Amino acid sequence: MPMIRRPRRLRSSEAIRRMVREHHVRTEDLIYPMFIMFGEKKKIPVSSMPGVYNYSLDEYIVALKDVVEAGIPAVLLFGLPESKDETGTGAYDPHGIIQEAVRLTKKHYPDLYVITDVCLCEYTDHGHCGVIQDGRVLNDPTLKLLAQTAVSHAEAGADMVAPSDMMDGRVGAIREALDEAGYTDIPIMSYAAKFASAFYGPFREAAGSAPQFGDRRTYQMDPPNGNEAMIETALDIQEGADMIIVKPALAYGDITYRTKEQFGLPIAAYNVSGEYAMVKAAAEKGWIDEKRVVMESLVSMKRAGADLIITYHALDAARWIKEEQS
Ligand code: PBG
Repeated sequence: MPMIRRPRRLRSSEAIRRMVREHHVRTEDLIYPMFIMFGEKKKIPVSSMPGVYNYSLDEYIVALKDVVEAGIPAVLLFGLPESKDETGTGAYDPHGIIQEAVRLTKKHYPDLYVITDVCLCEYTDHGHCGVIQDGRVLNDPTLKLLAQTAVSHAEAGADMVAPSDMMDGRVGAIREALDEAGYTDIPIMSYAAKFASAFYGPFREAAGSAPQFGDRRTYQMDPPNGNEAMIETALDIQEGADMIIVKPALAYGDITYRTKEQFGLPIAAYNVSGEYAMVKAAAEKGWIDEKRVVMESLVSMKRAGADLIITYHALDAARWIKEEQS
């Protein structure tokens, strides 16, 4: 039998490989997460995430220059408050760290798209994403505080809010509060499929948000569950989510694929802190080729169906994409 089909024909040179390439990571797809705190002239490295820092507001504005010049269209902001308390008042303080950071960003870079993470865990002294009573995270009383947080971000000038707490009904509560306050045009990107993942470890160091007792398994999803992610996503869409996040990204490509197939709305894959830390650690040891591993990981998220990628690699990726093009 002569071999008529030879798939290798379309792999024989870089030219043809480029021509038949199905997916691309574009700089426009990237969202860069940043951690901001009060104080001056502080740029504190996060030890488990080389290249990632906690910035004071002035240093944050300096760092934004690179982000904007790299062509990255959006940032996702996380705040480290001055002090923490039981109900996370720093999260919805009109002069809280995120509210100040958003105002400052818009003053310096009005066209940069500013997305804010809406959650309480960085602001509560117990480190949970909601209000606590008798060691349990209360759902419904937390909704009001999340809604208040989202509105305060919108008031400061945020372009989009991203609730990451995983309380039931929070997208609806936030939508209603935003609409009531006149922010009908501010979209919600919900962390709809957010799993109780061990991959968030380095983030909790960066944000100082590790739970002081227990874990997040009563609100974040159980990693083995795929169908449950579809239910969570359907609920968030019903409640008014404009876009959804799948988180983490790398071990959850099936979830990205299924949500895209089933719902079709824009999806952001969150390439989380632990995924970043693993690549950085192995690259530092010289065990992997960092650039190739990062770009292969990011394009796998696009192949799975993600439209956008939230990643700490964004600055490097933008540089590598530019080099490829020139
Ligand atoms: C806040 C939040 C977390 C992350 C994003 N928003 C931590 C958590 O849920 O424990 C994790 C991001 C990352 O690991 O990069 N709830």
